[in-house]
Amino acid sequence: MSPNPTIASILETDAFTKHLGMFTHPKGAHLTERTRPLGAWLEQRIEYGTWPYSRSLETSPATEARLTSSNGAIVEGVNFGSQDYLGLASHDSIQEAAIRALADFGPHSAASAILQGNSNLSRSLEAALAEHMQTEHVLLFPTGWAAGFGAIVGLVRPNDHVVLDQNSHACLMQGARAATDKHVFFRHNDVADARRKLSKIRAKDTDNAILVVTEGIFSMDSDSPDIFALQETCREFNAVLLVDVAHDLGASGPRGTGQLGLQGMLGKVDLVMGAFSKTFSSNGGFLATQDASVRHFVSIYGGSHAFSNALSPVQSGVVREALRIVRSPEGESLRARSLSNIRQLRAAFEADGLECYGQPSPIVPVGVGDERLAKLTARALEANGLIANMVEYPAVARGRARFRFQVMATHTPEQIDTAAGIFRRSLAEARAHLNE
Ligand SMILES: Cc1ncc(COP(=O)(O)O)c(C=O)c1O
Repeated sequence: MSPNPTIASILETDAFTKHLGMFTHPKGAHLTERTRPLGAWLEQRIEYGTWPYSRSLETSPATEARLTSSNGAIVEGVNFGSQDYLGLASHDSIQEAAIRALADFGPHSAASAILQGNSNLSRSLEAALAEHMQTEHVLLFPTGWAAGFGAIVGLVRPNDHVVLDQNSHACLMQGARAATDKHVFFRHNDVADARRKLSKIRAKDTDNAILVVTEGIFSMDSDSPDIFALQETCREFNAVLLVDVAHDLGASGPRGTGQLGLQGMLGKVDLVMGAFSKTFSSNGGFLATQDASVRHFVSIYGGSHAFSNALSPVQSGVVREALRIVRSPEGESLRARSLSNIRQLRAAFEADGLECYGQPSPIVPVGVGDERLAKLTARALEANGLIANMVEYPAVARGRARFRFQVMATHTPEQIDTAAGIFRRSLAEARAHLNE
């Protein structure tokens, strides 16, 4: 291949024709040698500018940012790739909370939460979060991933069943797979299908437990289940419901209570887990429950709580302060700005004839469809100065590639116009290349 290949010449290469799913189950007796086909494919994608992942920040991840791409190119422009939905990471009082915690405790969390990893900041966070969630108990984890995985492996045993929405996050799917072979999926947001799966399980097994898993807002589709209907269905079949509120808690709903608040289900769902890595400008996660013994059980048997170093005091202090803002009138006005930005962006895409999936939330998934078109668009976005994340198979269904715009309350109307304009131009350039 020449040093500067034309787009036409690379369109038939593996970088464009193969997908990640083809490398997941490599054959061969040597564990590490068989990783090479994936490595070669990935290197080719990096070389051709079609691997818009694993970039590194050169500036803070604000509404404008500069990153170094995996192939060394600098990407600079409006940033719709940060999960800081209310823009709290740059808020003065959040930064002060981080500095205060650093001065008081230093940067280290000493140990896992079961040893010396708790602090008065983490205890205060647990209490405030329990009040926010209207639950009696909260258990903290070092990440949102650890919370989802840990809650499932902590509670579910090999004879039990897990029934998951087919679009559940990887931490939930991998938790279910690690806990039991008896895991099945129901059609996305389809309560009737969940009911069928539960009925089938209970027809044969009334001795073992069932966990049903869904999310408040799905991060690839920006849509929500009917949580009341799912919870009622679970009760009917002696099953327990777990809702992952990573993307909606804090960012929507009255006082930032997310979909549970919006659907009148606050404090009424069996188990709720979430992540601080979106609206709460930190890392970390939690499990909320009304039952002290559930908290004890998961704290002992959910490996990621007991055997991973705890949330650091800086993280606890930051999340505690973020929660204060989320619940305050300032939080309401940030959510109002966020919603206005979301509506503006969705309207701009729709005016261009593009489809935005789901309902208004800080995630605006805009459909592109064909994976080759998406990869060419990603290349063009980098060159044209727009940072937004591409999502492709197998993260979403075949032929349903999309770009995920993550909107912040701190984006200006001008930045939203700029983003929509760059996306329009980049997609047109990509289409022209495909038709060459
Ligand atoms: C729905 C959902 N749950 C859990 C997680 C994991 O959270 P974290 O990144 O904080 O570990 C994510 C992260 O993207 C998520 O989208």
